[in-house]
Amino acid sequence: MKNKDERIGGRMSRVDAQLKVTGAAKYFAEFEVPNLVYGVLVPSTITKGTIKSLDTKKAESAPGVLAVLSYLNAPKTPAYQTDEPSKTSSGRGPGMKAFHDNKVYFNGQPIAMVVANTFERATYAASLVTAQYEKSSHQTELKSNLDKGITPKSKSLQDYQRGKKDAYQTAPVKIEAEYIQPTEVHNPMELHGILAQWEGPDKITVYAKTQGVKMTQQVIADTFKIPKENVSVHSQFVGGAFGMSLRVWPHEIATILAAQKVQRPVKLVITRDQMFTIAGYRPHTHQKVGIGANKDGKFVGISHWANVQNSNYEEFTEATVGMTRFLYRSPNVNTTYRVVPLDICTPIPMRGPGEATGAFALESAIDELSYALNMDPIDLRMKNYPEKDPEQDLPWSSNHVREAYQLGADKIGWSNRPKEPRSKKENGMWIGYGMATGTFGAHRREATARAQLKADGTLLIQSAASDIGPGTGTAMVQIAAEVMGMPADQIKFELGETAFPYAPIQGGSATVASVGSAVHEACMALRQQLVELSGNALKKAKVDTLVYEEGRVRSPTDRSASIAYTEILKRNNLPMLEVTKEAKPGEEGKKFAMYSFSVHFVKVHVHPTTGVVRVKHAVAVADAGTIVNHKTASSQMMGGAVGGIGMALQEEAVIDHRYGRYINNDLANYHVPVNADIPDIDVLFVDKKDPYINPMGAKGLGEIAIIGMAPAIANAVYNATGKRIRELPITPDKLI
Ligand code: MOS
Repeated sequence: MKNKDERIGGRMSRVDAQLKVTGAAKYFAEFEVPNLVYGVLVPSTITKGTIKSLDTKKAESAPGVLAVLSYLNAPKTPAYQTDEPSKTSSGRGPGMKAFHDNKVYFNGQPIAMVVANTFERATYAASLVTAQYEKSSHQTELKSNLDKGITPKSKSLQDYQRGKKDAYQTAPVKIEAEYIQPTEVHNPMELHGILAQWEGPDKITVYAKTQGVKMTQQVIADTFKIPKENVSVHSQFVGGAFGMSLRVWPHEIATILAAQKVQRPVKLVITRDQMFTIAGYRPHTHQKVGIGANKDGKFVGISHWANVQNSNYEEFTEATVGMTRFLYRSPNVNTTYRVVPLDICTPIPMRGPGEATGAFALESAIDELSYALNMDPIDLRMKNYPEKDPEQDLPWSSNHVREAYQLGADKIGWSNRPKEPRSKKENGMWIGYGMATGTFGAHRREATARAQLKADGTLLIQSAASDIGPGTGTAMVQIAAEVMGMPADQIKFELGETAFPYAPIQGGSATVASVGSAVHEACMALRQQLVELSGNALKKAKVDTLVYEEGRVRSPTDRSASIAYTEILKRNNLPMLEVTKEAKPGEEGKKFAMYSFSVHFVKVHVHPTTGVVRVKHAVAVADAGTIVNHKTASSQMMGGAVGGIGMALQEEAVIDHRYGRYINNDLANYHVPVNADIPDIDVLFVDKKDPYINPMGAKGLGEIAIIGMAPAIANAVYNATGKRIRELPITPDKLI
């Protein structure tokens, strides 16, 4: 019998749920190989300068120590002798050259790695390494360096102008305000690291925490100038990443060098405090938005400026001002993006990279304008809904954001929202409602899948995709079950291995659209082969009307004209049927503007004397095309909403600028939401197929899950208290 939950649109439980809850799922750090030794990093204690001398003697004579690796004795990294590291592997390379010279670019930068026969011994010996430095003065504070902002090289972030510049200033009703987003750190539960094992002088195996095994493979091959086929990367399970594993970090290259040095496999698992210092973050950003409207609410102009924290050794950019160009109809729009190089590690995409930060500014500003106009913020947005993408002047592939506003407003009870801020209490608490919109590009990349239909009737599909938690394998099984008309328990999807056909990184909410399309095409190709091999059984039926159900292909009209897949293989003496299919986006991306949309609604309570904000109810609505799995998609939206609550109310990585060093780089002092901080979260989907993006009609939702949540909360806090907080997080001190 056909089980609807196993098909596209179902609620199938995760295929790897049991492995995960029983601990059978193996993460990179859990792998053991013979002769394994352990690396521990020694961080720099200054923020900028050079290392004058390094005393490693004590560490070298400590028990169990095999080597202390540093710029003084590390094996030479082939690519580092010539190339700029930022030029290798399209920016996913390590950027900074590990143990290449004596330069210090930021506090906590690894300056040495101790390798010992136990982790504890390596940790102890690392504490014995001391360095003498030539210090230079450093700059880590964004606020005092805003004037040092430079225009990035990135094409998409050049100054943008449509219509007149700063036209908002001429509007009858306008607001202009600055918004500040602090540094946030991904902090997935699983720590970062790698296990590196050389199998020969030009052959290596690694177990890694990565959002793309093929990406890691390419970077290692490029960095060590060895053939790509000689680099095997295993990463079947990833314990969360949120973007932090979208590149290979210098400490991974350092581990590979260490393995070369000691001629044994080396495992490095960085510490929680190093997760803050050496593995990226969401950059601290100062923004300004100017927005003006006519009295009827029609936008006259929007200007959006962003100054974004960056490192001093490579360029990082994200689309902070991107959505301002197209999310609303406005004849005049200009955006400016500057990077501010500071003496700190390079940022890396963190869930909703750019847009999450930009939406805080834009969607707060629109809320502010709605009060200035005395208009409902939803009505204001509806009034400025663009029938087509005003930036590219293209029709939307699909855009149901207006329906999303309606769904969310009904669910949260928007009609209960006090029109006047600070005018309504419930159980002694100020109550407020807020909402905000999110959007992110609905991307699709090239991907390949191999499908093997076996004589026993099972189907194995492989692709080098990665699953950092959304449930990729589950969605792929559902897509295959749908196309093949087979029960899910006869289908297996394998990922996370470089030996499998190419899949892109799991980033930018594009896995279902990309890898799902490859799975779809591979299964369609299998179906065709089955029909061709079926002999006379289906002769009379037209191929495109055939029905694939219960592991059989049959004529839609003549039920007796039906044959099992296993029977087709048997009659043809085939042990299995195998196809490998590459799926690529076509020209549709040039004809249509493709975006996912979300709308977040919240109801908050604010304590009148302590200023504590509690989110009482949250509703997340997504226009993400076809929802392949409603259960895992809801979980993903919920997780994003939780991240948004952290962003709005708690998260902030703090640097003591005198020393250029983080002072709250641990999970006791860097606050993230716990269960008690999280209200009921309702997730709703518009669930309308996008006709153009891919065969499933699915748009991504990993990013839109968080984009818009923080401004929705800030807007609700204003509605509750009459206080507009423009600097995240909204901690009680800002409200009393
Ligand atoms: Mo993400 S920031 O696309 O991992």
